[in-house]
Amino acid sequence: MAEINIKKGLKKYKEAKKIILGGNMLLSKRPEMFLPDRWPSYFKRSKGILVEDLDDNKYIDMICAVGTNILGYSNPIVDNEVMKAIKKGIMSTLNSYEEVELTKKLLSLHKWAGMAKYCRSGGEANALAIRIARSAAKNGKVAICGYHGWHDWYLAANFKKNKLGNHLLPGLKTLGVNKKLKNTTFTFDYNNIEQLLKLIKEKNIGVVKMEVARNNLPNVNFLREVRKICNKFKIILIFDECTTGFRRCNGGMHLITGVEPDILMLGKALGNGYAITAVIGKKNVMIKAEESFISSTFWTERIGFVAANKTLEIFDKIKPWEKISKYGRYINYQWNKIAQENNLEIKISGYESITSFSFQNKLNQYFKTYITQEMLKQKYLSSNQIYLNIYHNKNIVDKYIKSLNKIFHDLGKIKSKKEILEKLNSPVSHSSFKRLND
Ligand SMILES: Cc1ncc(COP(=O)(O)O)c(C=O)c1O
Repeated sequence: MAEINIKKGLKKYKEAKKIILGGNMLLSKRPEMFLPDRWPSYFKRSKGILVEDLDDNKYIDMICAVGTNILGYSNPIVDNEVMKAIKKGIMSTLNSYEEVELTKKLLSLHKWAGMAKYCRSGGEANALAIRIARSAAKNGKVAICGYHGWHDWYLAANFKKNKLGNHLLPGLKTLGVNKKLKNTTFTFDYNNIEQLLKLIKEKNIGVVKMEVARNNLPNVNFLREVRKICNKFKIILIFDECTTGFRRCNGGMHLITGVEPDILMLGKALGNGYAITAVIGKKNVMIKAEESFISSTFWTERIGFVAANKTLEIFDKIKPWEKISKYGRYINYQWNKIAQENNLEIKISGYESITSFSFQNKLNQYFKTYITQEMLKQKYLSSNQIYLNIYHNKNIVDKYIKSLNKIFHDLGKIKSKKEILEKLNSPVSHSSFKRLND
């Protein structure tokens, strides 16, 4: 199939790499992570599940902005509410009363919590939660399991032998991070309670922060054990649900496990694409940070609160987690089926509405790049990972699987690196952090 014309997008990204640090703002949206020198890079419009690039190509988006828009891009109801707010004014010397409304909603969904604080990004929310937890904890040392943003407190874990390789991606340097933060953040693996216990005893941990699920649905027994240990050692337990929130139930995914944290972060889906992130927590913990200076001008901006209030109202009505989980399961079934039919061994990871596969062979990264290349020709923004939104339906999924099946058919015949390289029109996609600027 012929390559599509993406000249304008390529030109703009070439310029960007010279004048924007790292080429763009989010590693997961870097063209090199998908298809180096062949990725459309920029969008003009987005609606539901459709994206239009600078060269007027229209794509079906299977990656869906890494999970920000469960209700689809440019959701008319959320957008309308935001536009009404814009007309009334979104900034003033006084505060947005919508922050109080949002707090009432989030606290009613999470009965264990008694206070909230808001910011704009997941990394910020994570740094904020660490500050609150350290204000309340007997000791400031942190044990983490998962990805928790770009800030110094987190990257400090990598002063020890690329420890974040298992939690985010290999190759992250600690350049620019204060070396005095060495031995302040430590990693543990999901489902390894002995490792956590050893860490707590040896390092005198005061705060445990973790994602409740990443590669699989939450392990309730593991979470219960973590809670028990945190109680025993008087450790503040934080669940980072910036990504998992609202994807399985109304609120954090921990609600289906019955295990409650002391602090919780919700992000991404909360404002359906508008920037808003919440930190909620038990009142006796949150209140300990009252004398810590935590404050920012744009945390008062109104749009995030308005968007989140409307998004939560819609979530409550249509329960989108049921639909996105259902089609996630259907995609998993179809992935396994077409892999078997084409003699490919794949491993599926994730939890239904955020799901991915990897090939169980040494050519995984090459195969992934080939899939992105060939799906792009058929006007899909796609790799080996899908973030579902409510616009993914059976028709869309069946068409996507039909296109993917043809590619799996090609891949089933590939036996060597040489053969797959002959089929790639671009360098292989990046699997780790790399320098981009000239
Ligand atoms: C669990 C988790 N925490 C924190 C973050 C960082 O959020 P942001 O990219 O908004 O800073 C992410 C982003 O992927 C995440 O998945």
